[in-house]
Amino acid sequence: MLKLTHLTKTYKEKRIFQNARFEAELGEIVLLMGKSGIGKSTLLDIIAGIKQYDSGEYYYQETQLFPENDEQMSRFRNQMIGYILQDFALIDDYTVMENIMLPSLYNSQIKKSTAEKRARELANRFDLSDVLAEKVRKISGGQKQRAAIIRSLILDPPIILADEPTTNLDSENFELVMRLFNQLKQEGKVLIIATHDERILSIADKAYHVVNYKIIV
Ligand SMILES: Nc1ncnc2c1ncn2[C@@H]1O[C@H](COP(=O)(O)OP(=O)(O)OP(=O)(O)O)[C@@H](O)[C@H]1O
Ligand SMILES: [Mg+2]
Repeated sequence: MLKLTHLTKTYKEKRIFQNARFEAELGEIVLLMGKSGIGKSTLLDIIAGIKQYDSGEYYYQETQLFPENDEQMSRFRNQMIGYILQDFALIDDYTVMENIMLPSLYNSQIKKSTAEKRARELANRFDLSDVLAEKVRKISGGQKQRAAIIRSLILDPPIILADEPTTNLDSENFELVMRLFNQLKQEGKVLIIATHDERILSIADKAYHVVNYKIIV
């Protein structure tokens, strides 16, 4: 269970959340919808511990998380979160494989060979095997999107945050990603997906909308 209560967040004078509440259970696919600029990516960043908030309480399972506690938050982020960012956040001058393997460099609990095997399996499934050795700056938008998805899964985290993960996918890859998300759900993970893509509603357990500084079902 992941829970944020009494969440308030402002950027300087711009209000984003006011006493908002968000909850997701393991084994759920949760969508985060709402118009552009309303705060979806901000919420994912808060969940990932990348952004601070003004006030609120954040719990994962029985543990309360404190965003100002860098050590706790970075351990939580590294061990529990896989994040597919809206702009992919891939490194152009690294190869696809090097990018996919990045999370494993910061985590001593997974062997490099295990991560690499997982990377190759996922790349094969998403038709990326041929570009694993290419520099990211040479691959297409859809290939970048799939590389970012694979990178988020390399450590097999229980919480997967996905920011507009289907924007660049053709229908074939869209179907592959939906199947993957469903499989992750079956494995008991929680997926929190910020999206404008209504096609994803068909696999969602819950769809939240950000409206009036609140996160409502
Ligand atoms: N670091 C920042 N400093 C100041 N304002 C910011 C910052 N990041 C985001 N904002 C503002 O906060 C609001 C919410 O941004 P956010 O990226 O969370 O929206 P979003 O719902 O993800 O939008 P989109 O659907 O376009 O991705 C926007 O008005 C944005 O300009
Ligand atoms: Mg966004």
